[in-house]
Amino acid sequence: MSLHTKYPAIADLKARAKKRIPHFVWEYMDSATGLETTQHRNRSSLDKILFRPSILHGEFTPDLSTTLLGRDYPLPIGIAPVGMSGIVWPGAERMLARTAATEAIPYTLSTVASQLPEEIGPLVGDQGWFQLYPPRDPEIRKDILRRAKDSGFHTLVLTVDVPVASRRERQTRGGMSNPPKLTPRLAMQAARCPAWLNGIRKTGMPRLKLMESYSDIKTALPSTQHIGYLLRTSPDWEYLRWLRAHWDGPLIIKGVCNPDDAAQLSDEGVDAIWVSNHAGRQFDGAPAAIDVLPDVRAATNLPIIFDSGIAGGLDVLRAIALGADFVMLGRAFHYGLGALGESGAAHVLDILQQDMISNMGQIGARNLAEIQRAKL
Ligand code: LAC
Repeated sequence: MSLHTKYPAIADLKARAKKRIPHFVWEYMDSATGLETTQHRNRSSLDKILFRPSILHGEFTPDLSTTLLGRDYPLPIGIAPVGMSGIVWPGAERMLARTAATEAIPYTLSTVASQLPEEIGPLVGDQGWFQLYPPRDPEIRKDILRRAKDSGFHTLVLTVDVPVASRRERQTRGGMSNPPKLTPRLAMQAARCPAWLNGIRKTGMPRLKLMESYSDIKTALPSTQHIGYLLRTSPDWEYLRWLRAHWDGPLIIKGVCNPDDAAQLSDEGVDAIWVSNHAGRQFDGAPAAIDVLPDVRAATNLPIIFDSGIAGGLDVLRAIALGADFVMLGRAFHYGLGALGESGAAHVLDILQQDMISNMGQIGARNLAEIQRAKL
């Protein structure tokens, strides 16, 4: 039976992953903050974006290819950074890096991943982006930039929508701490997930290795106060200027929802803007990311990358239609890994691609430029 027969949608992978990932880890990955209304708003607003189907276009095979920041991609999709990816599925960072290299799409390694840039760089080939949470200490800042660059990461993503820790009540209730500690309650949950547990036996319990290489903090902290938060600061415009001066590759600013910020960023010499509300994990009073996209598009000529709530190929097209040039997914790729192991990430990409092709046929769009011009 083909994977598409058994798992036709990302929702099918999600359902299987939920059974195979311990509950406390699931709660960490799948939750948002507060009442999770921003997370729900991301979904409900995407559902409201409708295309008028255009008819009688004859037969065609849609072209999904695009370019971003001077590079060609087979489709406008990449893998977003996810903190502690390696606890969601053991070995996740390596699996996603290899998938990205094979599929020729970008993979963003998080500052708070469980693997080091030196370990992931050789696997990700020419597709490595590095996501930075801004370290407070300038020497650590420089060292992280140097290590990312030396490991082959050519594009830097500065996340700016985590100025303070969010509350993440559901995650806290779940019991995830940092470094993760299997209390008797959590060990019982893990015991019900043998594939996950076997993987963790091989990789060891994931830790924030990059952060730990600058710290001797080893005590368990609630996950929202992980050492990432102790080492990092809340960046300001001066910080951005410093970073621009010290990074000679493409620089992307992630977590932009305000058109005024987008306009100012354009003046600061950044290379692309990443519209995101951190998938609802930071601020429960935020608008849906898709709802701010048109205003941000109008405020800048820079390429726009989008994430937050993308659950299928139709959502990718919605974001493109509203002004995004490229779309990133984090959780969806981890659902794939949780359901099927390494091959699940490629299957997620395949689902997205099939779904885009089918919907572009309905819309009558031959390529992404026609999606951008489609009637909504
Ligand atoms: C999160 C941080 C690590 O969303 O980006 O969990």
